[in-house]
Amino acid sequence: MSVTSREIHLVRRPEGLPKLSDFQLVETSLPADLREGEVLIKQVYMSVDPAMRPRLSVGFELDQVLSGGAIGKVEASNSPDFAVGDVVHNQLGFREYAVADVASLRKVKPAADIPLSAYMSVMGGTGLTAYQGITDVAKVKEGEQVFVSAAAGAVGSIAAQIAKIKGCYVVGSAGSDEKVAWLTGELGLDGAFNYKAGPVNKQLRALTPKGLDAYFDNVGGEHLDAALAVMNVRGRVAACGMISGYNEHGARTTVHNLANIIYGRISILGFVVFDFMHKMSEFQGEMAGWIREGKVKYRETIHHGIEEAPAAMVGLMQGENTGKMLVAL
Ligand SMILES: NC(=O)c1ccc[n+]([C@@H]2O[C@H](COP(=O)([O-])OP(=O)(O)OC[C@H]3O[C@@H](n4cnc5c(N)ncnc54)[C@H](OP(=O)(O)O)[C@@H]3O)[C@@H](O)[C@H]2O)c1
Repeated sequence: MSVTSREIHLVRRPEGLPKLSDFQLVETSLPADLREGEVLIKQVYMSVDPAMRPRLSVGFELDQVLSGGAIGKVEASNSPDFAVGDVVHNQLGFREYAVADVASLRKVKPAADIPLSAYMSVMGGTGLTAYQGITDVAKVKEGEQVFVSAAAGAVGSIAAQIAKIKGCYVVGSAGSDEKVAWLTGELGLDGAFNYKAGPVNKQLRALTPKGLDAYFDNVGGEHLDAALAVMNVRGRVAACGMISGYNEHGARTTVHNLANIIYGRISILGFVVFDFMHKMSEFQGEMAGWIREGKVKYRETIHHGIEEAPAAMVGLMQGENTGKMLVAL
């Protein structure tokens, strides 16, 4: 008997902000028989990532399922290495069921006291991005001055808390007063500002009287410009993402203060989390400890049902989420 599944296709390339009508829910059926080395997966949580936005313009194919990170459970297996019930991380994206070659899967072994959804956020690639960006790329040290943009988002909220754990003075920016209150309240940042409420450069300068030693950049553009203007000598920028340009056919942004790099001996280093996957289990051990001790707190914004995935994508680009944006199936 074949398996009926529903999946999300891109049917139109968005201009600017994506719209619900750029996507379509499509019913499909999967082959009944698994070939050797294949498993049938039922997706449980799908990750909704800003990096999907540039690919909606260039990268994703029209009338095809949107690929992306997800966690699923094995429903049927034709592999000796994967049993029914195993939890697997995959890149099969926005669909209810998928048949996959086991070579493309990573087993997830969730701790008993940490919810599975966390393995799609703070305990997964999101947390690893934050961890590596702060420790390996920005190389923050105790007592340093650190700025994190999109600080109430999935990566930013974890990056900012790790910088606090490392003993830094940490300032964050976010797009609403509620998010700013969460950053300075529950998350314990030293300062935060609403970038929609006034010029980024003025607000950042006011909160960083000792300048900046490190900037964890999730936004690019005006935020990067403002950070470069207050950067201390030998400051470091960990270039993680540039979401402010993603709706304009890629990360096109205008930055005026690049010349500060020269006398400031500032380094700007881009990084991608895929380069650090070998550190995942070491990272998960440390992060699980921080979560249990209450040193790292996390939030998730969860949409329910495959039909909600387009709304989650559209909402992500408008700041609807606090913490990680997920779709639960
Ligand atoms: N290098 C890597 O390997 C890697 C891995 C994962 C993610 N990333 C990057 O990290 C960044 C954050 O990703 P995430 O998954 O954690 O997403 P996220 O921060 O949870 O969600 C995106 C957030 O960006 C903010 N935003 C949207 N448009 C903006 C704009 N024009 N200016 C400023 N902020 C804007 C919104 O919050 P507000 O309400 O604050 O506007 C929104 O909630 C993205 O740039 C992403 O591409 C990089």
